[in-house]
Amino acid sequence: MRDIPIIWSDEKETFNDDNWQKRREQIVNLLCKEEYGFLPPEPVSLASEIIQTDEEFCAGKAPLKKVLLHCTLTNGRLFTMPLTEVIPSGENVPFFVYISFSPNVPDKFLPSEEIADSGFGVLSFYYEDIVSDNSDFNNGLAEILGYKDNSACGKIALWVWAAKRAMDYAQTLPQLDKKHAAVAGHSRLGKTALLAGAFDTRFKYVISNNSGCCGAAISRGKKGERIKNITDVFPYWFKAGFDRYADKETSMPFDQHFLIAASAPRFVYVSSSEDDSWADPQAEAAGCRFASEAWSKSSLKGFVCDDEKIETGKSYHDGNIGYHIKRGKHFLGREDWHHFMKFINTKKN
Ligand code: GCU
Repeated sequence: MRDIPIIWSDEKETFNDDNWQKRREQIVNLLCKEEYGFLPPEPVSLASEIIQTDEEFCAGKAPLKKVLLHCTLTNGRLFTMPLTEVIPSGENVPFFVYISFSPNVPDKFLPSEEIADSGFGVLSFYYEDIVSDNSDFNNGLAEILGYKDNSACGKIALWVWAAKRAMDYAQTLPQLDKKHAAVAGHSRLGKTALLAGAFDTRFKYVISNNSGCCGAAISRGKKGERIKNITDVFPYWFKAGFDRYADKETSMPFDQHFLIAASAPRFVYVSSSEDDSWADPQAEAAGCRFASEAWSKSSLKGFVCDDEKIETGKSYHDGNIGYHIKRGKHFLGREDWHHFMKFINTKKN
């Protein structure tokens, strides 16, 4: 079906951990070159400043802190990003870096108290505090880097760079369990979370909700939004030139399963919504199926699903790629968070 590019060709080399890491890097490089662009350089230093603490948050069970991360860039300029942390008391707290559509904590997609009550911390940042979600590159991180347009990278890559800074900051917090860190996002920020996982192996769990086109969904044969649609309306999310594949999906030397596979052998979670025809749940599940090759080569299981057609309401948590599809529309809800946390708890124990 669909003439899908293969992730690993046995003819070239036998599969082992070292060879896979090399291949993984090639895949990430290919995705950068063709689709998202290359990430800006790592900062030369990062300093954090807590500007507000609410000890009463969640009845005092999980204090909220507002933090500024001051990043000194290689060009000598300073980029400061706000971040909010909500960490329940305790030791070895697993946590999410959540790339948010809103500066508010909690918000409709982020049920802070339920997450804290389940024993997880969240470090979140508002994506437009990094750079605006439009074609203007003369603001935020893009302006400080001197990027005028998407010739080096698109906005998704800039949001990924920020997720990595949140992870840098997490390393300084003793109460967090750095071995059990997740990156999560919804929709365009689900695409971002997948790319963040591809780049940053410190994220053991890579979670994308309703990420659809240019996220978890296979582009070849995809229904709903296609490369033509996304590059017409949101060209600035991608590296300049990605629109050459509009209506030419079959000529791409990759497909979106490469993006999922780039986090192997770690854990990836993909969630769909039944009525999200724009994202195309079947294409998202196909992304998981085709990416599984990267896990099965090392005798792990990727997406474990015996059903020919994914079943709404059912979760598929047996392999290293977790998946569920919920009733309803494009949304990130409590149900999804509970699935994510259940999956992580199962895999970490
Ligand atoms: C649009 C876009 C999608 C994207 C979504 C979102 O619908 O076409 O690709 O995922 O916005 O981020 O909400």
